[in-house]
Amino acid sequence: MDVLHNMNSELFTNHNTSLIEPIMQGFTSLFLLGGFVFQTILGLPGNSRALRERALLKRSVDTFIATEEPIALEQLLCNIGSSGCHSSGAGSGVVIASPSTSNPDYFFTWTRDAALVFKAIVDRFAHTYDASLQTQIQNYIVAQAKLQGVSNPSGSLSDGTGLGEAKYHVDLSAFTDGWGRPQRDGPALRAIALIGYSKWLIANGYTSTASGVVWPVIANDLAYVAQYWNQTGFDLWEEVNGSSFFTVAAQHRALVEGSALAKSLGSSCSACDAIAPQVLCFLQTFWSSSGGYALANINVNNGRTAKDANVILASIHGFDPAAGCDAATFQPCSDRALSSHKVVVDSFRSIYNVNSGISSGSAVAVGRYPEDTYYNGNPWYLNTLAAAEQLYDALYVWQTTGSITVTSTSLAFFQALSSSAATGTYSSTTATYTTLYNAVFAYADGFMNIVSQYAQSNGSLAEQYDRNSGVPLSARDLTWSYAAFLTAAARRAGVVPAGWANGSAATSVPGVCSATSRAGTYSSATATSFPASQTPITTTVPTTTITRPTVTATTTACTTATAVAVTFNEVKTTTYGQTVKVVGNIAALGSWDTSKAVALSASSYTSSNPLWKGTITLPAGQAIQYKYIVVNTDGSITWEADPNRSYTVPRTCATTAATSDTWR
Ligand code: NOJ
Ligand code: NOJ
Repeated sequence: MDVLHNMNSELFTNHNTSLIEPIMQGFTSLFLLGGFVFQTILGLPGNSRALRERALLKRSVDTFIATEEPIALEQLLCNIGSSGCHSSGAGSGVVIASPSTSNPDYFFTWTRDAALVFKAIVDRFAHTYDASLQTQIQNYIVAQAKLQGVSNPSGSLSDGTGLGEAKYHVDLSAFTDGWGRPQRDGPALRAIALIGYSKWLIANGYTSTASGVVWPVIANDLAYVAQYWNQTGFDLWEEVNGSSFFTVAAQHRALVEGSALAKSLGSSCSACDAIAPQVLCFLQTFWSSSGGYALANINVNNGRTAKDANVILASIHGFDPAAGCDAATFQPCSDRALSSHKVVVDSFRSIYNVNSGISSGSAVAVGRYPEDTYYNGNPWYLNTLAAAEQLYDALYVWQTTGSITVTSTSLAFFQALSSSAATGTYSSTTATYTTLYNAVFAYADGFMNIVSQYAQSNGSLAEQYDRNSGVPLSARDLTWSYAAFLTAAARRAGVVPAGWANGSAATSVPGVCSATSRAGTYSSATATSFPASQTPITTTVPTTTITRPTVTATTTACTTATAVAVTFNEVKTTTYGQTVKVVGNIAALGSWDTSKAVALSASSYTSSNPLWKGTITLPAGQAIQYKYIVVNTDGSITWEADPNRSYTVPRTCATTAATSDTWR
């Protein structure tokens, strides 16, 4: 603990203020953008001020996401060795926490950060195949197989203890200075990331790769969880030695998913089956019904309130889109998770100057925990993004299940957003549902907007931003911050990860908890190369989109359209005999089969405006991916360049909509 304390004060006095200038430029450009959007919105007739503000917010978040997405992905990849642009010296597949080598020195690889980053990459990859991400995933797995065998101050692989080490040098050698160790979330999170890729392998016919190459690494991590879950360790912030909600939630998920994976590989994980229910049972003991939140750490006496973004992170990383609003697994829309969200977010309202003057129903900057003193205690990008992500997850489930339930536990959360909220279940056909849904959407967007406001003007995301000035602070280009942005943006677009809880067994809590454990066996994973060309059977997985509230839908007495005639407009200069068609990932667009692509018409084509267009009726709210193709006279096909185009059919009163595309 002393080592960590000394570091604290050293870091505090040395922090870098030269970033003030870029952030001021950021404010300027945001201001200009805001002015532009404002004018556009003012043109809308007869809307209340609140609704106008919401529409304005939504558009500015749309713009921020469109700009930040490619930057976040590029910068995240810069932090992965060996070829990442900020990772020189890091081994292949090694994720550096940040390129910062002093104040603070984060040029190390943390098992937790790396696993969370690859969890995000695997989800992205499983949604849309990308060969270069696949190479990164394979490199990561090979690196982790090696890392598991590295003896370190926490121990070694022979009895599993070494797996609890938090960080290593970027060449994968052990870090031997003082540190908060062990940290028991790492193996669980790594197992979850690797299980995600294994599921993709199995779904695409590469089961033997999953069992031969990936499973041996996963098996060590599962054995570690089953053996050591019931012992204390340091929390994700590396400060508190006790039992951490985030860690226990990750351990539960790993065991449940590990068991299912073992079965799909024709084997079993009996330790997973025996221990998982006990871990879930233990997880329940963190709930404080008097406080209305999950305590971040128990089995400690550190004088803290235990209000901590730990529990928001636990919720988003345990999200299963098919698990409803289950409270035992702390699903994002569960009453317990929503109530905790409120308590944690509120704990930062009065302590950060950047939050002053913001009303209780609006988003604020979110830090780790209110008592934090690291760099003087500031908001963190990844926690502010997690606060948004939890709400987008919730919106997805409400939309797909068709109702919102307000319980006495979640009532305060909802009332802060809509003062007349009352307990009950509201079907998606009711006005109350629409009010609550739109209020939560706007609240979620508010957190994204805070990040937009305090991100560096070039899109860089550091670890923290100053509680008084909002200036970026501490480690620059934190890999985890970028991953947190990408997953929050994906959820907002309705792109959700595969589920894991798979039915009631994973969510039913034993009547009596018992602190059992299973001694595991550990062995070094030796098959560490992946066969070439493991391409997918299908390139994309269809997604449902979360409905984006619109000004019209909430203010006028019109009927929301269920089907929309979407006109696809594509500007493409063609030669005589060529035809332009549109093809995409849903049946109405041929399910990527070019022989079923929909032909567009050249009836409006002129040499100055070579427009091809065609109208297809699609379900309102449907998210699609598509591309245009040219069919040549000899029947051959020319595809537009990657990436696939994305579009969400609007869910408003309008029954027509249009795209405006130009060949690329
Ligand atoms: C470094 C850790 O990474 C950080 O989480 C912690 O707050 C500081 N040390 C101070 O203990
Ligand atoms: C400090 C954070 O508290 C911890 O969660 C993280 O793993 C390290 N920094 C590295 O990013």
